[in-house]
Amino acid sequence: MNAVTAVVVVGPMGVGKSTVGRLLAERLGVGYRDTDDDIVAAQGRTIAEIFVDEGEPVFRAIEKRAVHSALAEHDGVLALGGGSVLDPDTRALLAGRRVVYLSMDVEEAAKRTGLNVARPLLAVNPRKQWRELMEARRHLYEEVATAVVATDGRTPEEVTQAALDAL
Ligand code: S3P
Repeated sequence: MNAVTAVVVVGPMGVGKSTVGRLLAERLGVGYRDTDDDIVAAQGRTIAEIFVDEGEPVFRAIEKRAVHSALAEHDGVLALGGGSVLDPDTRALLAGRRVVYLSMDVEEAAKRTGLNVARPLLAVNPRKQWRELMEARRHLYEEVATAVVATDGRTPEEVTQAALDAL
């Protein structure tokens, strides 16, 4: 039988999915896994390198496989890369699971992620690209979420507690 992931964490890059995901796993006494880490380990290169070498469509195909494997194998807390929800099959696979969407204010987000070159989708004009990404994705995060937790002005511990309360 396949494992059932206890809690899936989704949301935009830079929102704190890894930090909160680890804290959630600790509080729930389960393991933590992150699909970006799985991809880097399997590919032996960074996400930015995959984007540069092969382009976004190839990255998305790699990501889809990584997300589907992790959902089938991992029974703890699983954080997904920010763009995972773009895939309709992935969204369908999340139905019926406990999914926490960590949300944040767009302006706050643009400041927090800044000019981080490790995030290839924000390399040219972070603020504008961020707004466009969020406009395109917000409804997808909302579609898969069973709990929405706002992160603005909260510490990771507070966000974790709010997620536990909402689950
Ligand atoms: C992406 C988010 C990143 C990483 C890649 C693409 C996105 O993951 O998968 O840079 O499309 O939002 P994090 O959300 O973990 O930063």
